[in-house]
Amino acid sequence: MSGWVYSEVVKDHFINPRNAWKNDEDFAYDCMGKDGNVQCGDEMLFALQIDAETEKIIDCRWQTFGCASAIASTSMLSEAIKGLTLEEAMKITPKDITERLGGLPDNKIHCSVLGDKALCAAANDYFRKNGMEDRVVEPKA
Ligand code: FES
Ligand code: FES
Repeated sequence: MSGWVYSEVVKDHFINPRNAWKNDEDFAYDCMGKDGNVQCGDEMLFALQIDAETEKIIDCRWQTFGCASAIASTSMLSEAIKGLTLEEAMKITPKDITERLGGLPDNKIHCSVLGDKALCAAANDYFRKNGMEDRVVEPKA
């Protein structure tokens, strides 16, 4: 079938999402964040394992009640952030992710922001838990 608006990369990440948190999987996380998309009401949860010494993201899991674009974007984001420090990970923008996916339909761009905001919420959770309130950041618009 032809005429899909999604790129092959999007389809691959949608069909085989990376680091998706399966319901029965026991994932020992250090911090977790959740956010919702006001435009569509969809929700996203992000959990991170952090190396306390370096603040590098060792591993991550995410879960969503979101659409194909949200799933593909967050799958791509979850691969991109592994091995990065929290600061580095938060510099990745939804636009970077959309580009890596080979683009998203115009009316689906907002979906790529959902994972980013949940990641930011998880980082904030880490900062709060570790007495670093001053490092809490607002998600990118
Ligand atoms: Fe229906 Fe995203 S809200 S697909
Ligand atoms: Fe809600 Fe895509 S339509 S995240």
